[in-house]
Amino acid sequence: MPRPSSRISGIVPSGKDGWEVHFAAWTRKEAGEDIIMLSVGDHDFDTPLQTIEACVTAVRGSNHHYTPLPGLPRLRTAMAAASSACTGVETSPDQVIATPGGQAALYAAVQGVLDQGDHAIVVAPYYATYPNTFSAAGADFTVVETPAEDGFQPRADMIRAAIRPNTRAILINTPNNPTGAVYSRERLEQLAEVCREHDLWLLSDEVYWTLGGGEHVSPRSLPGMAERTLVINSMSKSHGMTGWRMGWLTGPEKMITLMINLNLVTTYGLPAFISIACSEALENRYGVSEIAERYAARRTVLLDAMRGMNDVTVRGSEGGMYVMLDISAVEPDDEKFAWALLDNEKVGVMPGSSFGEAAAGHIRISLCQPEPVLREAALRLRRFASSYGREAA
Ligand SMILES: Cc1ncc(COP(=O)(O)O)c(C=O)c1O
Repeated sequence: MPRPSSRISGIVPSGKDGWEVHFAAWTRKEAGEDIIMLSVGDHDFDTPLQTIEACVTAVRGSNHHYTPLPGLPRLRTAMAAASSACTGVETSPDQVIATPGGQAALYAAVQGVLDQGDHAIVVAPYYATYPNTFSAAGADFTVVETPAEDGFQPRADMIRAAIRPNTRAILINTPNNPTGAVYSRERLEQLAEVCREHDLWLLSDEVYWTLGGGEHVSPRSLPGMAERTLVINSMSKSHGMTGWRMGWLTGPEKMITLMINLNLVTTYGLPAFISIACSEALENRYGVSEIAERYAARRTVLLDAMRGMNDVTVRGSEGGMYVMLDISAVEPDDEKFAWALLDNEKVGVMPGSSFGEAAAGHIRISLCQPEPVLREAALRLRRFASSYGREAA
């Protein structure tokens, strides 16, 4: 075979490979063991019935043809309304572009603001695809951690210190995967100041915005930020539609118009019947409050069951689909902890260090299981942590 491009060869998984714990747990569960999987980030329930019915009607209704590159007008209108609600900034359909999932919106955003050799700042802990999305654009990046003891909130002074002459963008995610931290207005205001000062783009991944605890603040709503913020959004989490692949990007109209040309050479538009079903789901908020309530209740159940546990501290964990536990007082090596938890109590979690240095000494617990399962998992975790190391002593 002739040589593949270095661009494609450069897309390789990065960081410590915590996925090994996940795959081992998965394999053992498939083999019939009573494993509780708390490592996956996908809903344990189906898409709301109304959305499914809307899709069936649309596919039967002869919607089988090409769609406009930025999305069906009805879809863009519905997305613009959702962006107005998410970001607190009145948004027109010309300021949004539909993409196949939030990941494609993120890819488009990175392609749209960074040239080969440009530099970006990625605020960590971060979603696993971030580094490679920059590598795929030939861009360089610096990871700036958010300290665990600060609840994984971003620190403007640390971000400012990482800026170089060729820095063009900062990428943040709130509510955050993996930490569940919901960035505060104050910290976002400080971050916005850095962006304005250095004329930077802010790429804001807000795919968990409906699953927040407390106020969701979009940096797009802060003074002078609408012109320099690109918001990544998705129906995967909010509407229970991970497998449908529908997301969108919101930003200044001029930038969105340029993005349409990217769709010309990539997706060439989205499936018509899915676009219609998604329009209806967005217009009617199908499942949104039920899904948000379900995750809020699960978070409460898990955190209540963990309360008073010796040597285990909850960090972040205010929103999103995950809870982050500091287990360093029990075992400083989070990977070792995760493997031992799997072996001794049959609970699969993600070691925090797979998400960067700030999350080392932590484990990430997914809330994608029903409440009784989460209660049982908490019981096993409590038993495990309280007896850990005793046998060896
Ligand atoms: C923070 C974050 N951003 C983006 C995505 C991508 O989601 P999707 O492509 O399904 O919309 C995910 C998925 O887990 C995520 O956790």
